[in-house]
Amino acid sequence: MISFMFLLFVAPEALFSSTDVAVISPQDPALHIGSSLTATCEVSPDLGLHASGIYWTLNGVRVSSSNYSIVSSNVLSVTLHALSGSKQKSGDNLVCHGEDGRILAGSCLYVGLPPEKPVNLKCWSHNAKDLRCKWRLGGRGETHITTKYTLKYKLRWHERENECENYSTVKKDYSCYIAGNIALFTPYQIWVEATNQLGSAASDITYLDILDIVTTDPPANVHVSRVGDLEDQLTVQWASSLQLKDILFQAKYQIRYRLEDATDWKVVDDVGNLTSCRLAGLKPGTVYFVQVRCNPVGIFGSRKPGIWSDWSHPTAASTPASGQLQRPSCDPKPAEQNTLRRELKQFFGWLRKHAYGCTGMSIKLYDQWRVWLQKSHRTRIQVGKQNRTFLFTHFIVTHKKRKDSP
Ligand SMILES: *[C@@H]1O[C@H](CO)[C@@H](O)[C@H](O)[C@H]1NC(C)=O
Ligand SMILES: *[C@@H]1O[C@H](CO)[C@@H](O)[C@H](O)[C@H]1NC(C)=O
Ligand SMILES: *[C@@H]1O[C@H](CO)[C@@H](O)[C@H](O)[C@H]1NC(C)=O
Repeated sequence: MISFMFLLFVAPEALFSSTDVAVISPQDPALHIGSSLTATCEVSPDLGLHASGIYWTLNGVRVSSSNYSIVSSNVLSVTLHALSGSKQKSGDNLVCHGEDGRILAGSCLYVGLPPEKPVNLKCWSHNAKDLRCKWRLGGRGETHITTKYTLKYKLRWHERENECENYSTVKKDYSCYIAGNIALFTPYQIWVEATNQLGSAASDITYLDILDIVTTDPPANVHVSRVGDLEDQLTVQWASSLQLKDILFQAKYQIRYRLEDATDWKVVDDVGNLTSCRLAGLKPGTVYFVQVRCNPVGIFGSRKPGIWSDWSHPTAASTPASGQLQRPSCDPKPAEQNTLRRELKQFFGWLRKHAYGCTGMSIKLYDQWRVWLQKSHRTRIQVGKQNRTFLFTHFIVTHKKRKDSP
């Protein structure tokens, strides 16, 4: 490999000079997958080598002599059929060897596909101060040979075409980042060009106004704390984004939370512009993960909503344990159970009329219910209270599940 690299760099200037031995043509061709190639190796006459004494390798594997043809005493050709895509972007190695195995000359074969037009071009702007665009490769994506992607943009009413310079690729997401000099009130035209040795293709043009694609940082300092001894509630608080003071927009928020060992999140989407919220109907003695995100609204007076920020880092907190609830013996008497069910039905009929989530109303109702529950437990048998609390918690959880499922 090392000697081959050496040859690659040296051969072009040294063709048939006093120390040179052979030349392959075509040198470093680009070819479509599935095509065939006939290449020749012309050995310097000074070497006194006959074409019948030399052989070819492709990526280090000797090519069968049935594919050779002697063109003249010092020229041997090889025909490769139905080429498959280059195994590495730097090309496949086609090498011509002397009888003793030494390398006479080498060529790189770039076997691949022309690019297809890039798709899913999407852009967003952080606090209206920069621009990041992301896209995916068109078709099957893989071209097998080096393909260059260039994000270009133009301001409407301006002729000048600009190129983005700061590219990155994460898995299948290609992106480019423009930091600064963002025009806020002039529409942009943005597209991506893909080019390789076999062709080029451009994405559709995206037309956008920066103010329509503004996003921001996730809320900082998310704190989750207990609400006294209430075993089924947690309070979430966070700080509004610093940028809110800096640029002219307001914010609305969303919260999502899940059990420590669950994968599905429940979303509270009626938080509005509050910066705290009480979650109710949680399981006692359980760890929850909570995240908050922010959506900038009213950007420079625009009526369109912005783009949701990323979720904040998950914050964990646990609800207080409820010793009573975990006692196994809570078989209610049938009569007691029926009363409970009737009461619960009434309560939830009442509750359902009001928005559930962060609105103070349902929390207040819930608190009232709790107070009532505590009062009534003094006059009822213990087992009844346990059961009611259990049913209540269970109902909230399933009720919410039903609400949250699509
Ligand atoms: C050599 O030729 C045979 C048919 O003559 C073909 O099947 C084979 O794929 C060829 N080898 C290469 C490396 O192209
Ligand atoms: C390139 O983009 C990254 C973010 O993707 C940013 O952190 C970095 O500062 C940028 N570099 C330049 C030179 O703009
Ligand atoms: C929150 O929204 C209300 C109206 O929905 C508005 O009156 C209030 O000023 C907003 N507060 C903040 C801090 O944006």
